Amino acid sequence: MNIQIDVKNASKTYHSERGEVEAIRDFSMEVAEGDFVAIVGPSGCGKTTLLWGLTGLHPFSGGSAKILGDEVGKPRQDVGIIFQQANLLPWRTLIDNIHFPLEIMGEDVTQYEQRVHDLLQTVGLVGFEDNMPNELSGGMQQRASIVRALSVDPKVLLMDEPFGALDAYTRDEMDALLLSIWNKTKKTIAFVTHRIEEAVYLADRVYVMTPRPAVNAKTFTIDLPRPRPEGTMMTQDFFNIVATIKQSISDEVKKQKQSGEYQTEKYSTAF
Ligand SMILES: Nc1ncnc2c1ncn2[C@@H]1O[C@H](COP(=O)(O)OP(=O)(O)OP(=O)(O)O)[C@@H](O)[C@H]1O
Ligand SMILES: [Mg+2]
Repeated sequence: MNIQIDVKNASKTYHSERGEVEAIRDFSMEVAEGDFVAIVGPSGCGKTTLLWGLTGLHPFSGGSAKILGDEVGKPRQDVGIIFQQANLLPWRTLIDNIHFPLEIMGEDVTQYEQRVHDLLQTVGLVGFEDNMPNELSGGMQQRASIVRALSVDPKVLLMDEPFGALDAYTRDEMDALLLSIWNKTKKTIAFVTHRIEEAVYLADRVYVMTPRPAVNAKTFTIDLPRPRPEGTMMTQDFFNIVATIKQSISDEVKKQKQSGEYQTEKYSTAF
């Protein structure tokens, strides 16, 4: 088995003017090539911190993290990142936004023309290449950011609540679209969300983070058959898995409260 994301006992403590914030403690996760895992947990528990740690932009304070066999270091081309906001540059057209990382990397964009066109076709954005971001809906902008991340053909995709800002209907559509892309490309995906339903629908495995400081409370293997049509979310099996995970989270929170570990939010998070 080729482990592409390997986190061992990672921890992260922020040192701010208001004191220390222990965001993650002893978090471990192994993701093999082609796996789709989801990480769920309540707001402020450390999900974004985990993904930032994996990008190398905000390194962990302790433990180890490897991506594609290497200790996490600088951002790299074979690791794509998709954030909650599409972050398109407002002064660039859709196609120029997609080309932006290629330009930064000094790539010849014409070499990527066919690939980008195929991706635009997959996400239904052909014909919008010359639109400015403010002429696109939130869902279209997020689809553009998926194309931007996939244009360089990364092996690993890190996604931080990418559809969190979208309405429920568009979000379900985007989840189904992401699954169809994953079915075709079999990228290794680590997907952060606070919606347990979304995690169960998408992932092979769901890591549950406890409230801060986040540790792995439990890992659930989701053995719903693939491919998963949108109707999967209406099945009894689906409801049962979601209910089991929700129960486990509420048990864990109770346990933490009893042991005095539970920390209420003292700092607002910028993410
Ligand atoms: N730069 C920072 N300095 C100090 N504390 C921080 C910093 N960034 C995050 N934190 C704190 O670390 C904890 C985890 O934050 P993080 O953004 O990882 O949570 P999250 O699970 O992604 O939350 P959400 O679901 O709201 O996005 C929070 O208590 C937050 O206030
Ligand atoms: Mg976050």
